[in-house]
Amino acid sequence: MSEHFDVHGGARLVGEVEVVGAKNSVLKLMAAALLAEGTTTITNCPQILDVPLMADVLRSVGCEVKLDGDTAHITTPSELSHRADSPAMGKLRASVCVLGPLVGRLKKAVVALPGGDAIGSRPLDMHQNGLRKLGATSTIEHGCVVAEADGLHGAQIWLDFPSVGATENILMAAVLAEGTTVIDNAAREPEIVDICTMLTEMGAKIEGAGTSTLTVQGVESLHPTEHRVIGDRIVGATWAFAAAMTRGDLTVTGVNPHHLELVLEKLRLAGADVTTFDGKGFRIVQPERPRSVDFVTLPYPGFATDLQPFAVALSSVSEGTSMITENVYEARFRFIEEMVRLGADARTDGHHAVVRGVEKLSSAPVWASDIRAGAGLVLAGLCADGVTEVWDVFHIDRGYPHFVENLNRLGARIERVATEPERA
Ligand code: EPZ
Repeated sequence: MSEHFDVHGGARLVGEVEVVGAKNSVLKLMAAALLAEGTTTITNCPQILDVPLMADVLRSVGCEVKLDGDTAHITTPSELSHRADSPAMGKLRASVCVLGPLVGRLKKAVVALPGGDAIGSRPLDMHQNGLRKLGATSTIEHGCVVAEADGLHGAQIWLDFPSVGATENILMAAVLAEGTTVIDNAAREPEIVDICTMLTEMGAKIEGAGTSTLTVQGVESLHPTEHRVIGDRIVGATWAFAAAMTRGDLTVTGVNPHHLELVLEKLRLAGADVTTFDGKGFRIVQPERPRSVDFVTLPYPGFATDLQPFAVALSSVSEGTSMITENVYEARFRFIEEMVRLGADARTDGHHAVVRGVEKLSSAPVWASDIRAGAGLVLAGLCADGVTEVWDVFHIDRGYPHFVENLNRLGARIERVATEPERA
């Protein structure tokens, strides 16, 4: 049985919505629990498909994982398996983040290549180069990343690009290496700060979280902890774009507006009134049709690539012409083909897209190709005449907890429809 959403156009979103823990943090925090024998507790976990998938990955190397509402209890045994090749590995990108902890604790790992959104080539060369610098060998064999070391030692590591995943994997190996590791051109995302905070609570010695230079003083061992996941800035921004596109009035809580400064500034340029409540949330009101704005995706604190589909969707109904530049993933403009089905006037040329706003989009059947593209199509459907069918919504369920319920509570009309396979 597959599912699609019937999205009725013409909605104006009004009300309050709470954002819970960040997908792109909780999954790595779960992997970090491998670094310490005993029970680690993670609270404010989002109820999304990727969390139970990551739990299966941890169970496959010997952990006991109990998911209880928004809390994950992960019990890591003294004896862990170094082989992580459960089928769940191929369903999400974050599964590769068990590589660092396994090499850190066991000095060896065989980790199946990850799955996740098809938005570009997504190689692992920086992960492997970092582990090699720490003293490990690393190859790709039989669909797995294999890494082994007699011992790990501190090193000076330069990243070619501030990769989130590579920073996290190298960090989680370096915390148990002998000596000092410096990761330069490290990722600066709030999710990196969150994992550094949890690792420090576990006894790690890390300086520079949130800057492009991370210094790690290796320690003998780490201990379990209890940690609350930061609010999901990508989900928070999705609600902000939803308010701007539907000329709505939303109060978004549970997310730190400091993590969204550039996004909210862009929406102000589009004509939105934005008020922030220190560290707790923001209110966004869009009184008139949005004005066109240009967007350039970059690593944090730049405009997040995960928000690019929303930039395209907003531009498709804005007054004027927008230029959107994608600098992180070479295949993330696939979304635009689906927007054109909805009557968007959009064209791409290499990593640039030009979008001329139209008064109204027109409903059609469209297909989600990844998490953010799927959510972007739902928001576009809210701005179209008629009923837009969004297919392959499992992508959306991977990253957005209770998306349809929240939208309907705020004034949308969306049905989740189960469909016989031959119709899908
Ligand atoms: C994380 O992916 C997020 N996923 C992505 O969110 C997000 O788009 C991305 O960071 C950038 O912000 C998770 O946290 C699970 P990267 P990650 O390593 O870690 C290249 C979503 O929608 N690269 O920072 O895989 C890579 O190809 C998802 O929630 C190499 O070339 O991203 C990409 O072009 C989608 N070699 C760029 O760097 C490497 O070894 C950034 O990748 C590693 C990365």
